[in-house]
Amino acid sequence: MSQEKDQENTGDLKWYRIGPVTDIPPLGSRVVQHCGVRIAIFRAHQDAIFAVRDQCPHRQGPLSQGIVHDQRVTCPLHGWVIELATGEAVKPDVGCTPRYPTRVDDGVISLGVPALAPELKPLDDAPRDVADDVTQDA
Ligand code: FES
Repeated sequence: MSQEKDQENTGDLKWYRIGPVTDIPPLGSRVVQHCGVRIAIFRAHQDAIFAVRDQCPHRQGPLSQGIVHDQRVTCPLHGWVIELATGEAVKPDVGCTPRYPTRVDDGVISLGVPALAPELKPLDDAPRDVADDVTQDA
């Protein structure tokens, strides 16, 4: 896969191909890293795809390890519920984690990050299929 195919710039965003939707288990997640920030990509109810910083707004719990239900994730540490479309905590809790735009083209997920930021990097513990898609020919 060429770099041109793996990345695309649109306005202020650089889009990275992450991999097929089916590589993420239903109601599961995968993690990539960008500028030292872990980004969790979720496959929610009815294959809706969302990406948020992998950090709970409460005490930085790893949302990627939480339980996905409908279009929300419950943090594994203290049970806050985060709305994946907005990154906002569900009331009565208050807080927000940054979200990132995603899109799905022909069943393949792309993640949008600021175009001027450094390259997206896979985590060492990222599943091989995701790491391959992010780093090929980069
Ligand atoms: S760190 Fe997520 S609920 Fe406390």
